[in-house]
Amino acid sequence: MEICVIGAGAAGLAAARHAKDAGFNCTVYEMCSDVGGVWIYTDDTHQDKYGYPVHSAMYKGLYTNLPKEIMGFPDFSIRDHPQSYLSQDEILRFLNDYTDNFNLRPLIQFNNIVTEVYPLEEGKWRVTVVNKLSKLSTSKIFDSVMICTGHYSSPYYPNIPGRNSFKGEQYHSKYYRSPDAYTGKDMLVIGAGPSGMDLALHLSKTANKVYFSHNNDQLKAKYPDNVTMNYVYCIQALKIILRYQMK
Ligand SMILES: Cc1cc2nc3c(=O)[nH]c(=O)nc-3n(C[C@H](O)[C@H](O)[C@H](O)COP(=O)(O)OP(=O)(O)OC[C@H]3O[C@@H](n4cnc5c(N)ncnc54)[C@H](O)[C@@H]3O)c2cc1C
Ligand SMILES: *[C@@H]1O[C@H](CO)[C@@H](O)[C@H](O)[C@H]1NC(C)=O
Ligand SMILES: *[C@@H]1O[C@H](CO)[C@@H](O)[C@H](O)[C@H]1NC(C)=O
Repeated sequence: MEICVIGAGAAGLAAARHAKDAGFNCTVYEMCSDVGGVWIYTDDTHQDKYGYPVHSAMYKGLYTNLPKEIMGFPDFSIRDHPQSYLSQDEILRFLNDYTDNFNLRPLIQFNNIVTEVYPLEEGKWRVTVVNKLSKLSTSKIFDSVMICTGHYSSPYYPNIPGRNSFKGEQYHSKYYRSPDAYTGKDMLVIGAGPSGMDLALHLSKTANKVYFSHNNDQLKAKYPDNVTMNYVYCIQALKIILRYQMK
């Protein structure tokens, strides 16, 4: 049995470890040069040094929003930390420890992007990869493919009427790296999911003013005084900003 695992983040590593334990031949294709997926930090935002898309949305100073007690693997927990909420590099180190503990690195073909998974008649799969360094494309046949490519890599932009009339810069949170880039600016953070809640706080450290607009009526957290919280829909907030710009 030849098993293909696409991605060497938390999910791909667990898949590879168990495929290997079960006695299958396992090949992992990972487009980055290391394990960790989301937990890899890079200053690059859109393209890496080889001109390929950056996978991770990780930013400086991120702490987990879940306690380490429920972020480990069932038989490989996160230990050696008294605190529950860990930093990005501590989780990345944990995923590297998992990789080395189960000797997974030899299974992983780094810098290889899967470009196609094609079904063959005998129930097998032809997997095509491009090597980022050589740009060469190769294919291999597998019995099974596990797709562990994550689901926080393609930014979603809601269709907010009037968004394109806004003259300032607009960024998706995927491309946020550190608050330094926004020093002295007036910022509007739209949306209070985990990213919006965290970024409004991070930006308050350097921005001139942070407007935080959302429709999350469950948000009870207390923000610093220089964050103006508006329980309004973002469309209303944009209207306010646009009116301000006209002046
Ligand atoms: C900013 C942020 C903060 C988060 N904080 C937490 C938290 O505190 N606690 C928590 O439990 N979860 C958190 N998460 C959720 C996080 O997604 C999971 O913790 C976990 O990392 C998901 O692992 P994964 O393996 O499914 O995906 P990923 O970590 O995204 O890994 C997918 C891997 O697949 C590779 N890949 C993708 N496409 C291809 C391709 N075509 N060919 C080859 N390789 C490919 C990528 O390079 C990547 O290495 C957070 C997510 C984000 C974005
Ligand atoms: C793994 O690959 C080797 C070399 O191709 C082969 O001899 C062996 O039978 C394979 N093992 C399984 C479980 O498919
Ligand atoms: C905003 O308030 C926070 C918390 O009081 C403070 O740390 C930060 O320096 C303030 N930011 C600015 C730009 O004044």
